Amino acid sequence: MATWLNLGLQDSASPLMEQLNFFYDHTMLILIMITILVGYLMTMMFFNKFTNRFLLHGQTVEVIWTILPAIVLMFIALPSLRLLYLLDEINDPAISLKTVGHQWYWSYEYSDFLNIEFDSYMTPLNELAINGFRLLDVDNRLILPMNNQIRILVSAADVLHSWTVPALGVKIDAMPGRLNQTNFLMNRPGLFFGQCSEICGANHSFMPIVIESVPTNFFIKWISNMN
Ligand code: CUA
Repeated sequence: MATWLNLGLQDSASPLMEQLNFFYDHTMLILIMITILVGYLMTMMFFNKFTNRFLLHGQTVEVIWTILPAIVLMFIALPSLRLLYLLDEINDPAISLKTVGHQWYWSYEYSDFLNIEFDSYMTPLNELAINGFRLLDVDNRLILPMNNQIRILVSAADVLHSWTVPALGVKIDAMPGRLNQTNFLMNRPGLFFGQCSEICGANHSFMPIVIESVPTNFFIKWISNMN
């Protein structure tokens, strides 16, 4: 989860988020180079006395300063496109999970396991443990096995919501009348927090997501105690 002064992206907990992190760093580096170059050129424009009274056109330099930025942008566009297709790939999932956004909570269904289903509400402040995570913890957490491909099917019952878990690189809209699909793989155990990220009404900020990533045998133990 994000803590104080964490202004960039969170550490990845999935291979796709790792790729997103690499792409972010790559793009920021190009951005810094462009900013330095343009900044340098702009300051030099202010602090010199060059004049050219006979300047009417400069075809050559215009061709250069049109094509060069286009080439630079290709270095962002191509990796971006690669990631876009990588994120959409469904890699033979071991588990399918269904999640439905409501005003204002998420409900989950494990349809592979005798259709276990439950609602997941934010823990109210007066019930929060002393070391609990304010506005981020829920009463019923999603328990999922690590190192397994997990497919999530996302929909909504009332208005637009968005199922967003930054550490996993998952952000997918939950829309009424539509079933969206994405997938992820958690490569370490831990708690991964997320929040709704479509403005969905008065309590939009209060429908968090908590995933407990556990080893597969723990998950099997948990799921067999559910019914
Ligand atoms: Cu649901 Cu914002």
